[in-house]
Amino acid sequence: MSGNTPPVARIGADWYPLEAYGELAVGISEVLIPAEEIHKRVLTIGRSISDDYAGLEPLLVGVLKGVVPFVADLLRAITIPLELDFMAVASYSAEARDQGVVRLEKDLSLPITGRHVLFVEDIIDTGLTLNYLLRNLRVREPASLDVCVLFDRPDRRLIDIPIRYKGFDLPDRLVVGYGLDYRGRYRNLPFVGQLKPEVFRNGLERV
Ligand code: IMP
Ligand code: MG
Repeated sequence: MSGNTPPVARIGADWYPLEAYGELAVGISEVLIPAEEIHKRVLTIGRSISDDYAGLEPLLVGVLKGVVPFVADLLRAITIPLELDFMAVASYSAEARDQGVVRLEKDLSLPITGRHVLFVEDIIDTGLTLNYLLRNLRVREPASLDVCVLFDRPDRRLIDIPIRYKGFDLPDRLVVGYGLDYRGRYRNLPFVGQLKPEVFRNGLERV
């Protein structure tokens, strides 16, 4: 190929205006991180991963469902060979969740022994869930195990977890969008926004 070939991929297409999201948009009081900003940051992280893991063919492991938009954009921003796998977890109860114990609903389909595993998460809050999952993966003896999170709330951390790649710090407020949900909704918003208080004051799923 010549050096003048046109780009074959564009990360970040044309975005709809906020109003296009109809009743979802009505529930949002403020856009905290616009879609373009998220995409620029994801591209930067992808470039770092491409450099750091060159020749290692990393295995990206995501936790369903919140990680879907992030991992989908991130893997297209990585230019080296890689593989992708998913886990799914569910909380047993509020008490169990407080201790970071989660039920594995779906395990990985690939073995990770000897692999360079990059654990990709949408958000790290207390760190309890992530800590539990990392312990679970570590016993399978990967060659390396590192963490990439898009959103972080360092003020709420209960367990210190080394994070190799991080997108943004968030304030201590419930946010939705770009995979993050409130009662299963809002994951499809391409930005991160704050919910209007009345949306969760009434415990309503509809606004
Ligand atoms: P923790 O780090 O164990 O406290 O839990 C992090 C999990 O809580 C994430 O994987 C999300 O599923 C969820 N979570 C934390 N903060 C938010 C938020 O602001 N919006 C939506 N989900 C959140
Ligand atoms: Mg999650």
